[in-house]
Amino acid sequence: MKASAKAVSQPRKVAAQLVFRVLDRGESLSSLLGPGLSTLVDARQRALAQELSFGTLRWCYRLQAVLEKLLKKPLKNRDRDLHALLLVGLYQLLILEMPAHAAVSESVDVARQLDKEWAAGLVNAVLRNAQRQSATLLDSVDAKASARWSHPDWWIKRLRQDWPGDWQQILDANNQRPPMVLRVNALRTNRENYLQQLKQAGIEAQPLPFPDSAIRLQEPVAVEKLPGFAEGLVSVQDGAAQLSALLMDLQAGQRVLDACAAPGGKTGHMLESAPELAELVAVDRDERRMGKVEENLQRLGLHAKLLVADAGETREWWDGRPFERILLDAPCSASGVVRRHPDIKLLRRSEDVQTLSQQQQRLLDALWPLLSSGGMLLYVTCSVFRQENSDALQAFLDRCDDASELPLPAAWGKALPVGRQLLPGEQGMDGFYFARLIKT
Ligand SMILES: C[S@@+](CC[C@H](N)C(=O)[O-])C[C@H]1O[C@@H](n2cnc3c(N)ncnc32)[C@H](O)[C@@H]1O
Repeated sequence: MKASAKAVSQPRKVAAQLVFRVLDRGESLSSLLGPGLSTLVDARQRALAQELSFGTLRWCYRLQAVLEKLLKKPLKNRDRDLHALLLVGLYQLLILEMPAHAAVSESVDVARQLDKEWAAGLVNAVLRNAQRQSATLLDSVDAKASARWSHPDWWIKRLRQDWPGDWQQILDANNQRPPMVLRVNALRTNRENYLQQLKQAGIEAQPLPFPDSAIRLQEPVAVEKLPGFAEGLVSVQDGAAQLSALLMDLQAGQRVLDACAAPGGKTGHMLESAPELAELVAVDRDERRMGKVEENLQRLGLHAKLLVADAGETREWWDGRPFERILLDAPCSASGVVRRHPDIKLLRRSEDVQTLSQQQQRLLDALWPLLSSGGMLLYVTCSVFRQENSDALQAFLDRCDDASELPLPAAWGKALPVGRQLLPGEQGMDGFYFARLIKT
């Protein structure tokens, strides 16, 4: 093969490898992406590989249903790399509606690069066939809900139960490309000023209606291109996540616990919005992710006490002094941020929700005694499943005598029996759940 043809097909090859490793090895796309993209020298190639891997995983259930129709028999286990390559090809043809010559001939080139010369004809035939039937293929599989919405059946069933009036809109929002949203560091600049700086840098952006720290970019850009990013003028954080620090109602002199802190998005925001706190203690049990908190705080020029520990094992790390505020940004299914992490649909299992719900209960029970009398705990998840949200909090309130709900003063989201839910896509934001509890 000519060198230039090989270079052109590289992004498809990288995308197919990433999709293969998520589908067949259960690895997470965010951990694979950096090393995978670093093999491509050209920024446009990296952007294409990213688009193809995210998009193929986003539409994976639908594309797999199409591929099943097009293949006479499933590929053998040892040829699952070709399965991934064909999905990436179908994504280009059927969803992106790219010109067929690029999508087909370069996928054939990748098959050859995989040392599967025999498969060149198969890849060509399947993709040509898909192109010929492109007007009807997707419709023909859409009778199955999992294909139509490109989500696992158990997920759709759970959403229908939890959100009978909104489930379709939630699934639809999960399949959209997410916007890139910035948080302006109130200690260094303000939103109007930073919008000016973006304009001067030729980056199109708008303020979000709320919170007033949030700016939505018209198109995603590499963070190095953002004015003053290295100096901590802004951070990348969805608008919904930015609500957390505001809901903490932080006051000067308070001792604050950020119980599941990494990678530190909310830690940084709390310190930006309340620089006069007595102390902020940030705990996370993942040492590698805690390194990110350190990196982020350094960039922002902020300081917190960082502890690598299981937040639920308080005897191991708590010094016995109560906290006036606790943020519990609990580990969860992440079902509200699927648009940012489409691999979650493939990696998460139905039974994980129950396991996560038990962890959430354990953390609530363990952390509650650390809150001072009159103190407030903000419980947050990026999930839309009620078992991890309102149901978990109701169960906690039922068994805890000195906890009561402090209603959220919010015009956004939906009120639940306990707390409020922002559904994905509302005001263009991620799906988040918030509840505030006070110690009476
Ligand atoms: C939703 S993420 C937190 C995001 C973070 N608050 C932010 O805004 O950047 C959940 C975090 O909980 C951590 N985690 C899970 N179980 C934990 C436990 N038992 N103790 C401490 N951290 C835990 C995970 O390592 C993960 O970093």
